[in-house]
Amino acid sequence: MSLDASNLFSVKGIVAVITGGGTGLGRTIALALDANHASKVFILGRREQPLQETAAQAANKTIIPITADVASQESLENAYKAVAAQTTHVDLLFANSGISGPSAFFPPKPDGSGPTIEEFREYHWNHSMDEFSKVMEINLAGTHYTILAFLPLLDAANKRRPAPDPEQLASPRPQVIVTSSIGAILNRPAGLPYSYSKTAVLHLVKVMASNLAPYQIRVNGIAPGLFYTEMAKGLYEKRGVTGRGIADGSFTSDYVPITRAGGDEDISGMLMWMASRSGGYLNGETIVIDGGRTRVFI
Ligand SMILES: NC(=O)c1ccc[n+]([C@@H]2O[C@H](COP(=O)([O-])OP(=O)(O)OC[C@H]3O[C@@H](n4cnc5c(N)ncnc54)[C@H](OP(=O)(O)O)[C@@H]3O)[C@@H](O)[C@H]2O)c1
Repeated sequence: MSLDASNLFSVKGIVAVITGGGTGLGRTIALALDANHASKVFILGRREQPLQETAAQAANKTIIPITADVASQESLENAYKAVAAQTTHVDLLFANSGISGPSAFFPPKPDGSGPTIEEFREYHWNHSMDEFSKVMEINLAGTHYTILAFLPLLDAANKRRPAPDPEQLASPRPQVIVTSSIGAILNRPAGLPYSYSKTAVLHLVKVMASNLAPYQIRVNGIAPGLFYTEMAKGLYEKRGVTGRGIADGSFTSDYVPITRAGGDEDISGMLMWMASRSGGYLNGETIVIDGGRTRVFI
């Protein structure tokens, strides 16, 4: 037994697949896995350029870009085949792709009043069902089919585990981590379809953890609060926050109790723990990382 941090939190040698790995949180996690000696990190997304840029930033050159659209079964199947041609197994599938969809933000009125019921109806009505469905398609169906696509390679990771040793802690089972959001928990989220989709993803963690239990594949989730990315930067602009908002005092304490957004260290530290040896007993849970924001919002 070694309680040294380098043993507890080691991700050395793992093979990971990350959807949405070309930008934002996915890019940060891909680079963190690379920096900590993962063996191969496959990053998936629709756009080639950010995938290539992320791979080029990898100090240990373990990041492998694969273009894929999680809203297409055919594209996911092709991505699965491309990954399967380059690895015998996958230890970690981070199903992280997502879009924000229509905003629920109403421009402030000079008198500070909220929208009338007519304005509320018109605003949300004018977001088409197609826009609504696109959010569900990528955030929910995309997550579901991503998991299904990579099951054989996750299963293969189980089949190569060492035989049980009564004197040794068993090594971690293969794991799926999905990205939900505090938008799944807040009563007044930044987007209504987004919130519904991410709440469904919370439930997906429970349902999939249960359904994949017979195959010893773990399923967990993360529910991030505010992190500066392409998707989230509009929220910063609306609050007049410049930059990444990671210094104390960037946000008021009634919005985020610790008064800042999350940074790369916050999110990658949590993922490293979940992916490492010391995260091996985690199964069927979604972890909120939000500086306490969901503790103050009504
Ligand atoms: N940043 C935050 O504060 C925050 C908070 C809570 C939850 N989240 C969640 O975190 C996840 C990552 O978002 P982010 O904040 O890092 O924003 P981001 O930089 O915009 O990342 C979203 C990623 O999803 C990919 N994606 C979107 N549609 C896709 C599709 N159809 N197929 C494949 N990939 C697709 C995008 O790549 P392509 O466009 O190239 O496909 C992009 O890399 C999302 O699920 C988001 O909901 C973020």
